Amino acid sequence: MLAGKHVLLIIGGGIAAYKALDLIRRLRERDCMVTPVLTDGGAEFVTPLSVSSLAGGKVYRDLFDLTDEAEMGHISLSRASDLIVVAPATADLMAKMAAGLAGDLATTLLLATDTPVLIAPAMNVRMWTHAATQRNLITLRDDGVMCVGPNEGDMACGEYGPGRLAEPLEIVAAIENVLRDGLLKGRHVVVTSGPTHEPIDPVRYIANRSSGAQGTAIAAALVGLGAEVTFVTGPAEVPPPAGVKVVAVETALEMQTAVREALPADAAVFAAAVADWHVTSASDSKLKKQVGKLPTLQLSENPDILAEVAQMQSGRPALVVGFAAETDDVIANATAKRARKGCDWILANDVSPDTGIMGGTENAVTLIREEGADTWPRMSKDLVARKFAQMLAEALAK
Ligand code: C5P
Repeated sequence: MLAGKHVLLIIGGGIAAYKALDLIRRLRERDCMVTPVLTDGGAEFVTPLSVSSLAGGKVYRDLFDLTDEAEMGHISLSRASDLIVVAPATADLMAKMAAGLAGDLATTLLLATDTPVLIAPAMNVRMWTHAATQRNLITLRDDGVMCVGPNEGDMACGEYGPGRLAEPLEIVAAIENVLRDGLLKGRHVVVTSGPTHEPIDPVRYIANRSSGAQGTAIAAALVGLGAEVTFVTGPAEVPPPAGVKVVAVETALEMQTAVREALPADAAVFAAAVADWHVTSASDSKLKKQVGKLPTLQLSENPDILAEVAQMQSGRPALVVGFAAETDDVIANATAKRARKGCDWILANDVSPDTGIMGGTENAVTLIREEGADTWPRMSKDLVARKFAQMLAEALAK
């Protein structure tokens, strides 16, 4: 599906730059055209000759190279492709992008473009987790930049943790997700995912064990079919997928506002594990422990976001889907929930501890619709997501 597509690949200066060579090879195998831009840092790790040989064409290096300007100015170079991929995206490059700097060819292209941008960060784990990098990541996401990885693992510098460049085939899959024209092209789907955190005071909160894995897989599968996805996520363990518009929230009330702002949509999928209650008046300062005295927490009910959207009088998405995590009488409870909430479908799963589903990689679901319950065989959360996205696309097409 990448045949005939055109990727502008910016290679940043990190030890993972060698993987960019394999990425070029993988893209070219798929008949995808690659125009490489090698930063000065990148050229310390891979040679211009190996990059241009693999890409089968010129490698762009310098903003002030008049030959390049005569052949193709940097503005048109930045806009001629279907997607700009930055791999590896170093901490320095991310910071420059977030700040809007344009001191060399790569950053000028990134600032001058209206083409979608996908970054694949790679850096030392402490640099990745540093507040400055995380702040830059949020800024970039707000600017619509998509992100794949980084992965967790052993690092070239001898440390362990998140910061490894996503593998070339994962980057290819993310590129395919972004560039695919699918059944859901032109459709907007809102997906909620992850847990919510309800503050007790500035340091304590009420939460639940949702990892966000299933909601993330569903959002990725919807993007895979070409949907425009607004991904409203609580503080999840798994990173959001590439190709979605991420709206990060903490609490149920923030999630409600984000969902309202994300509408209208053709479909809404509520995979988040929203807390049922919040602390009525969370304290602005840390509650002090007092010997022999227990604090009293007064709780208020959170809004039911799924029910609110499912029961909208006007502007209701054509398909509203809820989730039901049950430990017993799964079908009966989920069927009752579908009626109570007023949604079209409920994806129900058995989360009894012995199933290993909560936080695991597999899921066993039953889809409850008006016409009845359909129990799927146990399969990976990715496969559940793809099957579900296909059914959602077919339902919208009716
Ligand atoms: O009522 P219960 O929490 O079991 O319902 C689960 C479904 O409702 C999920 O789809 C969840 O995302 C949604 N929900 C919601 N807002 C809440 C509680 C649940 O959207 N406050």
